Amino acid sequence: MRSLEALLALPATLGLLSGVSGTFFYPNSQTSLLEHILVDTHGAHSSGFANAITPCSKYPNYVSGNQSMGRTTAAQWLRVAFHDFVTANVAAGTGGIDASIGFETLREENSGTAFNDSFSFFRPYVNPVISTADLVALSVVMSVGNCGGAQIPFKAGRIDATGGGAFGVPAPDTDLPTTLGYFSGAGFNQADSIGLTACGHTLGSVHHGGFPTVVGPEAVSPTNIAGGIHLDSTVANFDPLVVHEYLNGTGQAGGPLVTSFNVSSRSDLRLYESDNNATMIALGEQGEGFQNTCVNLLGRMIDTVPKGVVLSDIVTPINVKPINATLDFDNQGNLIFSGYIRVRHPSPPSSQGSLFLITSSSPPIPLTAESATGTSIFGTTTFYPFSTRINDADSFTHFTISSHAGLHTFAVQASAFVVPSLTSRFSTTTTSLNFTIASKSSGGPNVKVQAPVGQQGTLGPAIKTFSDVDVSTAGKKAGYELWEGSVDIGSLATGALSIAVLDERGNEIDVGFF
Ligand code: HEM
Ligand SMILES: *[C@@H]1O[C@H](CO)[C@@H](O)[C@H](O)[C@H]1NC(C)=O
Ligand SMILES: *[C@@H]1O[C@H](CO)[C@@H](O)[C@H](O)[C@H]1NC(C)=O
Ligand SMILES: *[C@@H]1O[C@H](CO)[C@@H](O)[C@H](O)[C@H]1NC(C)=O
Ligand SMILES: *[C@@H]1O[C@H](CO)[C@@H](O)[C@H](O)[C@H]1NC(C)=O
Ligand SMILES: *[C@@H]1O[C@H](CO)[C@@H](O)[C@H](O)[C@H]1NC(C)=O
Ligand SMILES: *[C@@H]1O[C@H](CO)[C@@H](O)[C@H](O)[C@H]1NC(C)=O
Ligand SMILES: *[C@@H]1O[C@H](CO)[C@@H](O)[C@H](O)[C@H]1NC(C)=O
Repeated sequence: MRSLEALLALPATLGLLSGVSGTFFYPNSQTSLLEHILVDTHGAHSSGFANAITPCSKYPNYVSGNQSMGRTTAAQWLRVAFHDFVTANVAAGTGGIDASIGFETLREENSGTAFNDSFSFFRPYVNPVISTADLVALSVVMSVGNCGGAQIPFKAGRIDATGGGAFGVPAPDTDLPTTLGYFSGAGFNQADSIGLTACGHTLGSVHHGGFPTVVGPEAVSPTNIAGGIHLDSTVANFDPLVVHEYLNGTGQAGGPLVTSFNVSSRSDLRLYESDNNATMIALGEQGEGFQNTCVNLLGRMIDTVPKGVVLSDIVTPINVKPINATLDFDNQGNLIFSGYIRVRHPSPPSSQGSLFLITSSSPPIPLTAESATGTSIFGTTTFYPFSTRINDADSFTHFTISSHAGLHTFAVQASAFVVPSLTSRFSTTTTSLNFTIASKSSGGPNVKVQAPVGQQGTLGPAIKTFSDVDVSTAGKKAGYELWEGSVDIGSLATGALSIAVLDERGNEIDVGFF
């Protein structure tokens, strides 16, 4: 076995090296932060995003009510995405998942509380690299994956619309040709439309509150204030039951959009039998294969985006992931590299195993896991904090994590960075941000600040950008020039803002989120 010391000399070209753009995020800040929401769902260092759908029957306190409303958030997230998507015109390359639904909540075709409920929950998670539209898509992936369904591949990169888009969401009383026309415009043929609707209608309910022409007032009770009637017997389970109950007339028999007292409101019945039930029968015969059908159809739905939007590679759970890996100065002015290494064990590990951090500045450092672990549908995560002094910034070009699973090498650059301990976000009384950049080059750094802020007409934030922010010299530390600056955002940021140091060509050298 090679000694750990010998590894120090290994070039950073092992093929394990991650591509870097946001320097201390792997493979980049967007993927790293979205992977955090997808994977860190429960236990230590969770993002909190899955709290709204844990358990899957949950309806957290919203302006529009609480658990006793008879609503479910996991179902709402799916319906929000459907309404955002279905007004797409794929031939023209417009619409799709672009969060335009946030501007369209007062339209008749978007009746119900789901849209603002969801957007108010998503709002604090939106930042310069996480769009509301990406959260609309990710929320579908998480509802389905965490509520009994299979994993829909998630890609990032959706861009938020700046206003409302086209009309054209099918309603319970929309006639069949019009309904099929809407789906067709969004790229879904008749069989696809039936399948997608069955996939959606395996979660949630139709409510008297919002849809009194479908569900009568008799559904209302003190524990079901909005008067929801379930679409299948397992309201919070992503399973094929809606199909079987429809075909067999058992349980909810397909739900209120099949059985409504009001014949003109039976949109699911009209859609499902539009091909003499052939698609529904085929879905029934698939058994659990229904799950894969839904992965495909829902995956196509969330990946329907306006022309020009380029989606990323699939965001997959990372096994060995540096988190908040950052340079900073300590009180003595030393350069310190600190953060966490998250290790994912797809199945529970027999022991934690040992981890070593190898940098250019010291012998391999053994890392000790925190006792609290994370859990998710992707396994268990263990967190190893680290903090080490970097003596020679110029030779600090990469670091390596050695574990029983092998070596993982990550590139870093230490030429310029945002200094966390000398950067402060707003207080409750000011909307200004003060930051410090450390730089090895002589000229002042090129700084870009971006912040999510509230906007009219939607609960989805807009991103405000401040380019070429003025900086002034502020002394030296550990061989770096320090530069200070300040930005007045003009309003309170709704979520994390970013401070980026750019090179002459405008490429990101380092980015910090605060
Ligand atoms: C012809 C097409 C469709 C029509 C007319 C339709 C109509 C409706 C209506 C009226 C509701 C009740 C909403 C409420 O009471 O809050 C509902 C619920 C729901 N729909 Fe659809 N829908 C259609 C297709 C879809 C599709 C394709 C999906 C997803 C892929 C979907 C997902 C959902 C979900 C998850 C719910 C439950 C929402 C909740 O419990 O809050 N629907 N639908
Ligand atoms: C839940 O919401 C209903 C309707 O707004 C309200 O009457 C009830 O007091 C709320 N319950 C809790 C526990 O907040
Ligand atoms: C049935 O639905 C239609 C279309 O939504 C509506 O005009 C009518 O008033 C409804 N009938 C009842 C009794 O709710
Ligand atoms: C209908 O119910 C019967 C009896 O429970 C069951 O064997 C059959 O698989 C069901 N058919 C469908 C399509 O769900
Ligand atoms: C389709 O299936 C439903 C549910 O079993 C049934 O009520 C309906 O009559 C069928 N329609 C056709 C055209 O076969
Ligand atoms: C990383 O930093 C963010 C922002 O400061 C913080 O919310 C989060 O808890 C940190 N993560 C870990 C694992 O410490
Ligand atoms: C930023 O600096 C200014 C001037 O020194 C100060 O008044 C303000 O409170 C600082 N803001 C924060 C958030 O630290
Ligand atoms: C949803 O929120 C937006 C932004 O605050 C607001 O303009 C709109 O009226 C709200 N919609 C509903 C149905 O309350």
